[in-house]
Amino acid sequence: MLLTQIDHIAIAVHDLEAAIDYYRRAFGAEVHHREVVERDGVDEALLKIGESYLQLTTGTRADSAITTFLERRGEGIHHVGYRVDDCATALASIVAAGGRAIDTEPRPGSRGTTVAFVHPKGSFGTLIELVQERLPEQERE
Ligand code: CO
Repeated sequence: MLLTQIDHIAIAVHDLEAAIDYYRRAFGAEVHHREVVERDGVDEALLKIGESYLQLTTGTRADSAITTFLERRGEGIHHVGYRVDDCATALASIVAAGGRAIDTEPRPGSRGTTVAFVHPKGSFGTLIELVQERLPEQERE
């Protein structure tokens, strides 16, 4: 089994501050990590649930994938992040099984992780993110 944990479930929202406030009031959830990923045009907040995260995310610009998603589909679950020991190995395996890679090779994600996205088409309608906790050896400082 290549997947070791649900890393995060990402929910696209229009108003990130309002969503954070809602989860705080409803569940006492606190923000564990906050990050703007300029390359992807996303602003995200990670709320820790056990060893996994709930990721609330919104777009920071018009051409962001999250912005496009919100316009077309509205708010809701955007993708599921699965934690893996080795992102490249898991990506090769899912492609071999018929999945369609969006990232042809692993790349840096938020929180210092290494990630790769796999298209919902070919994965039964769910956008999948493979998440490796640390950067590969050769990319560490
Ligand atoms: Co994600």
